[in-house]
Amino acid sequence: MKRKEAYRELLSKAKQLIDPSVGLVSNMANVSRLIYDTFHFHWCGFYIVNNNRLELGPFCGPIACTSIAFDKGVCGAAYTTGKTKIVANVDEFPGHIACSPFSKSEVVIPCIKDNEVYAVLDIDSDTLDDFSPVDQEYLEQLVQLL
Ligand code: SME
Repeated sequence: MKRKEAYRELLSKAKQLIDPSVGLVSNMANVSRLIYDTFHFHWCGFYIVNNNRLELGPFCGPIACTSIAFDKGVCGAAYTTGKTKIVANVDEFPGHIACSPFSKSEVVIPCIKDNEVYAVLDIDSDTLDDFSPVDQEYLEQLVQLL
């Protein structure tokens, strides 16, 4: 299945799955698993703003760093700019935080409510240059459902 089609299916599943009657963490847990089941990315999950930094939230994949300063890494760049960051080659991104040697490219989407970034969705691929504006478009729609 093409990535666009897979995203369309993912979005319609997410709409059914996301339960407005429960807290954010529960929905983030199912959304990260849904992304993982769809694309088998190396790592996908959330970092949530807490204690004046980004703290590890629900994810699928290898164990990851638990805390990221607002001005560090790709996650920090997405947090501080409020814009999605696509990094084709993580080794060329100054300050990239290497949680796993297998991560080659990544996309980080800020989750925004009332003009404030409250979390980021971080997806790492073991393939170079794996993310495009297509991923950005659908993943931005996805985080708006939360
Ligand atoms: N990729 C992130 C760090 C988190 S791990 O990849 C799970 C970054 O440089 O912001």
